[in-house]
Amino acid sequence: MTSSEQEQLWNGSSGQAWVESQELLDHVLAPFETLLVEAAAARSPRRLLDVGCGTGSTTLAIARRLGASARCTGIDISQPMLALATARAEREGSSAEFVRADAQTHAFEPASFDMIVSRFGTMFFDDSVRAFENLRRAAAKGAGLAVIVWRSAAENPFMTTAERAAAPFLPDMPARRPDEPGQFAFADRSRVYAILEKSGWSDIDIRPLDVECTLPRAELTTYLSKVGPASRAIQGLDERFHARVIETVRAAFDPFVHGTEVRFVAACWTVSARND
Ligand SMILES: C[S@@+](CC[C@H](N)C(=O)[O-])C[C@H]1O[C@@H](n2cnc3c(N)ncnc32)[C@H](O)[C@@H]1O
Repeated sequence: MTSSEQEQLWNGSSGQAWVESQELLDHVLAPFETLLVEAAAARSPRRLLDVGCGTGSTTLAIARRLGASARCTGIDISQPMLALATARAEREGSSAEFVRADAQTHAFEPASFDMIVSRFGTMFFDDSVRAFENLRRAAAKGAGLAVIVWRSAAENPFMTTAERAAAPFLPDMPARRPDEPGQFAFADRSRVYAILEKSGWSDIDIRPLDVECTLPRAELTTYLSKVGPASRAIQGLDERFHARVIETVRAAFDPFVHGTEVRFVAACWTVSARND
């Protein structure tokens, strides 16, 4: 996928799905927000950038924690997701700002951030070295980088359950390719290390992070019919076939259902580095 395809996706079906499911996705991903808020609080940056901030939850939470003396900025390519982020900021009287631009190429003011964070927003660049070079130029000397990315699809069976269950019904569903821009692009630790090293970051540290995530069982069907490649592939199926695929996919999630809750372990990397 090229960056214009990513731009289309996040301004189209994926962006819309994230807007419609904002509360649910923020609930599922809340543990990662907490980790980044703690990482930011430990460094107390005056100027913080959240890359691929989406609907703004992490940017807003960090702004809340750091208080009025910090300037928090979220950057994202998705117009609908940023519209929601901006509305949320207005609603809670946050000073967080949101910029619609491609983090890979945006002309940031050099050395204008003391910390750069991201919750699952850095795996979509078509040239990751160029993107992390651009982010490093935006970072002040000594600024820290703290990003969370997914490990492999194999280590995240919850994330691929829907497409595995739907595959027999949808032979044309595009298969995920390792290393292509997308959710699992940073699965390979040595590749991520090389990207950061080539883009000039120092003190690179990449550690496994396994976090239990939950969602209410009552929200499972909404989740699987809105998020991920299978959800995109089943859009447009005729009503009866759609219902049959959804029911098969929902049943495939049974191993993750525990009473009224759905639980899974998110297998991630927590990546940190410094701009020396
Ligand atoms: C998986 S979502 C995560 C959103 C948000 N960080 C969160 O955790 O709720 C990935 C985000 O990265 C954004 N994104 C993808 N490519 C980007 C790029 N080149 N520049 C800026 N944002 C990008 C998407 O629009 C999307 O909002």
